Amino acid sequence: MISALAGLGMITGMDIDLTGRTALVTGSTKGIGLAIAAGLARAGASTVVNGRSKASVDSALDTLRSQVPGAKLQGVAADVATADGAETMREQVPDLDILVNNLGIFEARPVLDIDDDEWRRYFEVNVLSGVRLARLYLPGMTERGWGRVQFIASDSAVVTPEEMVHYGMSKTALLAVSRGYAKAAAGTGVTVNTVLAGPTHTAGVEKFVGELVGDDLPWDEAQRRFMAEHRPNSLLKRLIEPEEIANMVVYLSSEHASATTGGAVRVDGGYVDAILP
Ligand SMILES: NC(=O)c1ccc[n+]([C@@H]2O[C@H](COP(=O)([O-])OP(=O)(O)OC[C@H]3O[C@@H](n4cnc5c(N)ncnc54)[C@H](OP(=O)(O)O)[C@@H]3O)[C@@H](O)[C@H]2O)c1
Repeated sequence: MISALAGLGMITGMDIDLTGRTALVTGSTKGIGLAIAAGLARAGASTVVNGRSKASVDSALDTLRSQVPGAKLQGVAADVATADGAETMREQVPDLDILVNNLGIFEARPVLDIDDDEWRRYFEVNVLSGVRLARLYLPGMTERGWGRVQFIASDSAVVTPEEMVHYGMSKTALLAVSRGYAKAAAGTGVTVNTVLAGPTHTAGVEKFVGELVGDDLPWDEAQRRFMAEHRPNSLLKRLIEPEEIANMVVYLSSEHASATTGGAVRVDGGYVDAILP
């Protein structure tokens, strides 16, 4: 046992050093993606920020430069929900060590009102975007013998939300895709995992909370009421901060997480009432 572990080196603490690694976070001009990009950059990774417009990417780069002085950053404006966008990304960033498929859209819509185009759109943006990028970058990782691929899913992957079944479908699909890619990378030094994020404090969710409980309340009170009335299953009893999702992603991107692959890791504040994902 000791000799089998000897080559991995002695881990003496949880300091995470991603110096020399190149990381891409899709959809990282705001919200959870921006926090993940900051976390990876802080850990020393050369980090690629992505959004659809040059203006939003430049603004995110400015934010990151002020949050993480000395960060190694690159911006790529590309709609990675399309094949052309994925190719643009590949041209500008030929190789990656860490791929975080964070891009995802969500919107409430009664299930019987979701037409074929909308089902396809959710599949293309939330699932196929990550499938394509993993297909483009995984072979390089396996050849080099090291890599990390992560898909950001949601509690909705395992508890289908009645108000957005198309979103739930797309997040459930990511669990299968992630597990499948992990099998394709078996024994190569590349890990593939899904992170199940729970209700998180992003600008979009803050607006949503205001609409539900009234936007004249102080934030702490609005959040407390939202959680009590609309998310009573949460054991955290508050929204998750984007940095708390990012912490898990940075850990999974590190050497420390070398034995975690083919899994789904919850950062949901205990929202899903289950022991396993
Ligand atoms: N917020 C939550 O409570 C929550 C809970 C569970 C899971 N999640 C998941 O976490 C992920 C991030 O969610 P979020 O709430 O942080 O999202 P968000 O605040 O809405 O941010 C979405 C990001 O994606 C970018 N984007 C949108 N379409 C794009 C495209 N086609 N190509 C490239 N970039 C694109 C946007 O940038 P531009 O506008 O600049 O293109 C933006 O940076 C999603 O997968 C979501 O499903 C969120």
